[in-house]
Amino acid sequence: MSHTIVLLPGDGIGPEITAPTVTLLERLGLDLRFEEHRFGGAAIDADGAALTDDTLAACANADAVLLAAVGGPKWDSTDPQRPRPEQGLLGLRKGLGLYANLRPVKPIPALSAASPLKGEVIAGTDLLVIRELTGGIYFGEKTRTATQASDLCTYTAAEIERIARVAFEAARGRSGRVASVDKANVLETSRLWREVVHTLHAAEYGDIELTDVLVDNAAMQLVSHPSGFDVLVTENMFGDILSDEAATLTGSIGMLPSASLGAPGAPGVFEPVHGSAPDIAGQGVANPLAMFLSAALLLRHGLGLEDPAAAVESAVHQALADGLRTRDLGGSASTAQAAQAVLAHL
Ligand code: IPM
Ligand code: MG
Repeated sequence: MSHTIVLLPGDGIGPEITAPTVTLLERLGLDLRFEEHRFGGAAIDADGAALTDDTLAACANADAVLLAAVGGPKWDSTDPQRPRPEQGLLGLRKGLGLYANLRPVKPIPALSAASPLKGEVIAGTDLLVIRELTGGIYFGEKTRTATQASDLCTYTAAEIERIARVAFEAARGRSGRVASVDKANVLETSRLWREVVHTLHAAEYGDIELTDVLVDNAAMQLVSHPSGFDVLVTENMFGDILSDEAATLTGSIGMLPSASLGAPGAPGVFEPVHGSAPDIAGQGVANPLAMFLSAALLLRHGLGLEDPAAAVESAVHQALADGLRTRDLGGSASTAQAAQAVLAHL
């Protein structure tokens, strides 16, 4: 069966990590059709908008979307009237209904020395951040005058319940523990969050161990005792912050993939957690591994192809075990050398 994958290379290092990822996917001998579209700053420059209607329609009709990264100093502005590359990302999430963002964090043994944490603290860490992706303060009403600004944070019970369900289901396939992260001592949205999560837990997921963790405490525990977590589920902005924190536990944010999923049947978007790294763009030194691992998540969660997904992950791990280190990992391998090292193990 043929699968259509929309490629959104975006900005900065995006195109240079997308090209070797396509080569990698082509090597798997699957029937994949690639369709590339401009996205982010590149689309603002060429088409006037970070995400055009045509690109959104192409994504909606695809089997999965592989996205690299957007943004750069060229488009940075505090003027609310200027288009921003990030609007493309938010528009895509909203437009495709991608309410669940999965960010698995499992330090790779070969890289344990790269973690900012001591080996004994990081040992045994294997967690999954599940971030609600289409609600909360990111999408609430915004106001702005010269001297005042506001961003509204809203959640409905239905939005909370569907993401909690994703977390409980994921926990069933893992260690069976969910930490629900909120700020229920201060925020009304968090109090609703807590009620809805507990109601669903009591009704359908009694086999799962559920704990409530305040977000500030979760931030602390992620660095003091990360191996204590299994699944963390949280709202949009807390998840944005905590997933970057969790990602650095592995030594480099250049290693972490993510999957954004919606209703069954809707195409998912697969992308590295890292950004467009404008400071090193065009030099051929970007670490393509998070993008390769995002392609693996695309195969697994987007196309239901477990074996090729595992093959890509294993090739990445073997290349690292053989000593592959890009600059972010303290080595000197170029993007092309990293790609060759992984292909050699595929
Ligand atoms: C992420 C990014 C985005 C977010 C930005 C670029 C809009 O930080 O995917 O985590 O905040 O969601
Ligand atoms: Mg982020």
